[in-house]
Amino acid sequence: MSKKIDPCTLVLFGASGNLSRIKLIPGLFRLDAAGRLADDMKILSVGRGEVALEDWRADIKGMLDAKFKNGYDQEVFKRFIARNFYHANPPTDPDAFGKMKAKLSDEKVFPQNIAYFLSVRPTDFAPVVEQLSGVGLLDESKNWRRVLIEKPFGTDLASAQDLQAKITKHLKESQIYRIDHYLGKSAVQNIMLTRFANAIFEPLWNSEHIDHVQITNNETLGVGERTTFYNATGALRDMFQSHLLQTLALVAMEKPKDLNPESIRAEKIKLLESIKPVDLNNFHKQVFRAQYAAGRVEAGDGHAEKVPGYLDELKRDGVESSTTETYAAVKLFIDNPRWKGVPFYVRTGKRMHEGNTAIAIRFKKSPMNLVDDQHQNWLIINIQPRECIKMEIQSKIPGLDIATRTMSIDAPQRKTGDETIDSYETLMLNLMEGDPSQYLHINEVEAQ
Ligand code: BG6
Repeated sequence: MSKKIDPCTLVLFGASGNLSRIKLIPGLFRLDAAGRLADDMKILSVGRGEVALEDWRADIKGMLDAKFKNGYDQEVFKRFIARNFYHANPPTDPDAFGKMKAKLSDEKVFPQNIAYFLSVRPTDFAPVVEQLSGVGLLDESKNWRRVLIEKPFGTDLASAQDLQAKITKHLKESQIYRIDHYLGKSAVQNIMLTRFANAIFEPLWNSEHIDHVQITNNETLGVGERTTFYNATGALRDMFQSHLLQTLALVAMEKPKDLNPESIRAEKIKLLESIKPVDLNNFHKQVFRAQYAAGRVEAGDGHAEKVPGYLDELKRDGVESSTTETYAAVKLFIDNPRWKGVPFYVRTGKRMHEGNTAIAIRFKKSPMNLVDDQHQNWLIINIQPRECIKMEIQSKIPGLDIATRTMSIDAPQRKTGDETIDSYETLMLNLMEGDPSQYLHINEVEAQ
């Protein structure tokens, strides 16, 4: 059931960046097509350079053409394009935010409930918040004001706390939306439902029955244009501490007392806090980092594509050497009775031979060994590209002899006709609705 959304203005910082071009603006278009945007809703894109409104709108058309190759509804397009405005915020202009305020104060055009989406460099999160506050654009005395912060929220505990201290000078916790777009993925949301809405899994979900768990995120993409961001970040901070630890928390947490966001969050935090720190004396046995070299990756149409190595890509941008990891694998243990002694292998890598994200749960040997080559069971929750649950079970080979083979049960999560909603669409809608339940609380960020 759709919730009522107040008319609002979405201010998109970093509007000409990749995330905005590929996900956010096309995502907003799809929300419009689905009738999920308030009638008066407006989008103010903010970039560093001056761009005339008609050029920006033409640029948006190009983004939609690139995304929706099979075309799109022209009526929706007319409505959508009229919602879009542009504002230049050059870093050299000391009055840039004053000018933004003047523009936004035109109430006939811009609804005064404002959500700011900060798709900017992490070092700009605190300065942008400070400057918005400086000109009164975060003041909630008449209308709501919300700020969505992209990841990474700091680069370690101290810097996350520092960022938190800086932004909470200007914002209440209820105004802050820390995004982890994996939480908007339907298949990630399905982890908890699979566990708790089916009587068959929960009794087995512990160290008595589970041998180990693998959480694997393989991407065929390389770092692309994002070399500066990525080289300062690496796989551990880009993917591991955020998306993969959230996934681990949903797989391993205790059952929340109900489905309220606070109850789920409390269990996730308990779980994150009970992950045993990696033993620094045995580091190499638990942590592995690597970089991709030139090679071939699956191109999506069954063909392999030749791609350059990470260092080659950095050289193109003038960087001669780097030890930043593009692959990380960590073996973790969880210090609680449910998971005593069960290793969790959590891995992520760019430019892997094929792209797939999955949670694979390996069960222990069945207590009764009936035949020699009896295999242990697997349960696989596939997150992407296919959203499905697979189970490998042992089954008798029909015939005179007693022999077993592995059969796979494959249950797609998606049926023909189901909504295909991108996680950013869900999360932008939640932002406009004022629903923070799929966003991160600071306590989760600190635990991660
Ligand atoms: C982002 C990372 O958060 O997630 C990217 O910064 C990564 O490096 C992306 O490619 C992966 O997201 P998805 O939804 O494609 O799995």
